[in-house]
Amino acid sequence: MKRPLVFIHGGATRFKEEFHNDIIKAVERAAKIGFCTLERGGSGLDAAEAAIRSLEATTLFTAGKGAEPNLIGDVELDSMIMDGNRLESGAVMAVKGITHPISLARYVLERTPVMQIAGDSASWLYRQMIDEGYRDEEFSGDTKGPSISEGCDTVGCIVVDKLGRITSASSTSGWRGKLPGRVGDSAIIGAGVYANEVAGASCTGKGEQILRIVMGRMAVYYVEEGFSVVDSCNKIMRVLREKTTGQAGLIMADKNGNVGLGFDTPHMPIAIANNGKVIYSSMAPHDFVEAQPI
Ligand code: GLY
Repeated sequence: MKRPLVFIHGGATRFKEEFHNDIIKAVERAAKIGFCTLERGGSGLDAAEAAIRSLEATTLFTAGKGAEPNLIGDVELDSMIMDGNRLESGAVMAVKGITHPISLARYVLERTPVMQIAGDSASWLYRQMIDEGYRDEEFSGDTKGPSISEGCDTVGCIVVDKLGRITSASSTSGWRGKLPGRVGDSAIIGAGVYANEVAGASCTGKGEQILRIVMGRMAVYYVEEGFSVVDSCNKIMRVLREKTTGQAGLIMADKNGNVGLGFDTPHMPIAIANNGKVIYSSMAPHDFVEAQPI
């Protein structure tokens, strides 16, 4: 049995070399945190939220405390979390003044009748979430300064619990200098994130390219059609290359705990936790498909 597992990515981009060590440690830590959450009886949503929060809490990625400002210097965050078995998701878009949009996305999923909420309304909902005591307040209030990567290093994860139920999630600020109000793929169901009872995907990289091919949903659809997750990743990466200018990647897992990935950028840091430990991590997992670590 290959599940339960927690599969983390830290974005598809090029990272400056001096940060590689810290980045690998951060994705490994997130995978462990997610896995421990499951082992302690937490749900897939608990594990995905905990793992993403740990990445948002670093300044290493364009998410949470590491968020990049938009054209006018504001930080606007997008995030989504999806429970595959229930086809329920929550997403927040262009939300300002918070550190952990993943928790607000989960609040949208669990405590509201809607699936997506944007801008000032998301900030208003954040206040309600804090007032209700759903999560503690934690403002970032600042940005990380000089970028340590080029492009968009969204963070994401997929959790497969012991019963094969899949949760997918993502969190990002999008790229430095984006138009105010711009929403990328990460909070759009089926683009940056998708999960159902068969498989899950979490995408990263140039949101506009990911959106054009509805990357997450299509990759999961290929699994439904009988392709393995590895073949589905290869197939959607071919579509990305043929139909768009690329610069993106994805991670996938199916209900049996099979995993796959694809990326066309120099780096896409990943870590996988299974059996209580990190069983694979890499800054640029080109050898991953051949290695099939689990
Ligand atoms: N993939 C993150 C973004 O484009 O916003």
